Amino acid sequence: MHAFVAGHPINHSKSPLIHGTWLKRHGLEGTYRAVDVPPENFEAFIASLKGLTADYVGGNVTIPHKEKAFALADEADETTDYIGAANTLWREDGRLKATNTDTYGFAANLDEKSPGWQSLETAVVYGAGGASRAVIVALLEHGFRSVHVLNRTLEKARVLADRFGPRVEAHQLQALPDVLHGAGLFVNTTSLGLEDKTVPQIDFTRMRPGALVTDIVYVPLKTAFLQQAGVQGVATADGLGMLLHQAVPGFEKWFGVRPVVDLELRQIVETAMGMR
Ligand code: ATR
Repeated sequence: MHAFVAGHPINHSKSPLIHGTWLKRHGLEGTYRAVDVPPENFEAFIASLKGLTADYVGGNVTIPHKEKAFALADEADETTDYIGAANTLWREDGRLKATNTDTYGFAANLDEKSPGWQSLETAVVYGAGGASRAVIVALLEHGFRSVHVLNRTLEKARVLADRFGPRVEAHQLQALPDVLHGAGLFVNTTSLGLEDKTVPQIDFTRMRPGALVTDIVYVPLKTAFLQQAGVQGVATADGLGMLLHQAVPGFEKWFGVRPVVDLELRQIVETAMGMR
């Protein structure tokens, strides 16, 4: 049994390490390898997966193929339809099926780090790019009453508010102090903090008591958003767990065993990333 992660570029992917650790742990014969698939070859790659002689039982797709993978698969579940992008593919009954496990990964990370997070009621989502969609769906599925989406390009936040219904409201970045007032959860979904881009000063103490600040960026583990919240005495949850947990459903589909995210796995990945 062979599985893949296809992306472009792909050499920094931590997925082979995660799945390789689980394959070893469970004594399985399978492999999980990274495949560099440039955009012009992606359609042919998917066609080969659909072929009867395909080498692979399935795999992950990552940047820049998630939307294309969703569009080219034979079937996707409702959550994935909603998001419009897939990160996990597998063959079942002669069909290529697609799902998006980022929603699961986001929620499972907070379940682990901050049990009870679902009761925080009001969320502020910073950014309206591809990655924000899985987060918004997770918040709606977990009963958030109100989700404020802020984006530099307001139009993109408006598209999400239209798509996801009345509980989701679009705002400009300048609205942050207002929407943070009394909010329960703050999620950064932008690439700010990566590549030394400046992060704005944010007063997280405006949030309600018991509030939580999280970031889907996990390099560095303590992003500039999390650092600010920590200094202000507001609880934080880093994003590495989302990466680890999103891998669970795929591994189970391809190899038939549900693997566990534990401290040992986290330490193996942190070591490989030079975080320890
Ligand atoms: P991803 O798929 O990882 O979410 P993306 O779709 O390119 O990546 O989205 C990146 C997000 O970061 C967007 O919300 C983007 O804002 P715009 O839609 O206005 O581009 C946000 N972002 C990136 N650089 C930013 C910056 N310097 N200031 C504010 N927001 C930024």
